[in-house]
Amino acid sequence: MAKLLETDDKSIEDAADILRAGGLVAFPTETVYGLGADATNSAALARLYEAKGRPDFNPLIVHAPTIEALRDEVILTPSAERLAHAFWPGPLTLVLQRSESCRFSPLVSAGLPTAAVRAPAGSVAARLLRAAGRPIAAPSANRSGRLSPTTAQHVLGDLGETIDAVIDGGPCALGLESSIVDVSTDRPTLLRPGGVPPEELEAVLGAPLARPEPEGESGSAPRSAPGLLQSHYAPRAAVRLNAKSSVNGEALLGFGPVPGASLNLSPSGDPAEAAANLFSMLHELDALGVSDIAVSPIPEQGLGIAINDRLRRAAAPRPA
Ligand code: TXA
Ligand code: MG
Repeated sequence: MAKLLETDDKSIEDAADILRAGGLVAFPTETVYGLGADATNSAALARLYEAKGRPDFNPLIVHAPTIEALRDEVILTPSAERLAHAFWPGPLTLVLQRSESCRFSPLVSAGLPTAAVRAPAGSVAARLLRAAGRPIAAPSANRSGRLSPTTAQHVLGDLGETIDAVIDGGPCALGLESSIVDVSTDRPTLLRPGGVPPEELEAVLGAPLARPEPEGESGSAPRSAPGLLQSHYAPRAAVRLNAKSSVNGEALLGFGPVPGASLNLSPSGDPAEAAANLFSMLHELDALGVSDIAVSPIPEQGLGIAINDRLRRAAAPRPA
């Protein structure tokens, strides 16, 4: 069973020791809980893929405390420098070419010439990364295809038997994963909408973001994030979107002042509040044993873009 750690200095040191020894430690970031492993240790990464039940073509995000810690690992393009300057530490992941001197295990990139990197804003994450003193790969700390965890209890429920420790830093402030932008070329591409709204990324870049080409059309390496399988972020219950009201005993997950909601992402219609509640309320409905969830419409702008992306994947047909 995973050891549950607090956030005092001694516990952070213990967690860093476990990571340096090749262990798996889940920790809070401002977005969701990540499952950390030493990004330079292939054996540790193999264990990480196994714990998540993740297909090995799906690469990992490497976390570091600052951009300086990444200069020798990836080739920082001018767009990358601008976005990192504007949004790091924060909920933004940059996909870049691995440098000649890159110390990340090839398993991090799952065969691609690129690596995804980010400097998270959560203070527990920053302290852990400094204490570890090396780059840490961390996918969301859930079994592959399941809901992302926003509390230590979510992590324990999903992975408690298979990982070494969880740092309990309370609920994540943002509750939704980072935005992923491929800035490895001169055509910045939004691979996953997330915590930084696309409008804000485009304002800093001074140009519109490209969107990924549909699978299979580009011939070269996949331009969409390989992990973005259609069905993802799925609760156990079936999900129906843009519902005005619930029918046939569905639980209604509301947004805005809707009557009869079982739970409401944000009664006042605030997208930031809805983002913070999204995964935890889906977890809660699962825990209640609800079999069908109807979700109120959410405006497709700002953080609403990332919320709707996750909801569409939760509602997508599931693999048999
Ligand atoms: O907020 C987050 O980003 C959280 C926290 C823990 O930092 N992490 C997270 O990791 O969401 P994960 O593994 O659940 O999602 C990472 C995504 C996957 O869809 C993966 O395919 C994509 O990042 N990715 C990683 N490396 C990539 C690369 N070199 N090129 C394209 N996509 C990449
Ligand atoms: Mg994930």
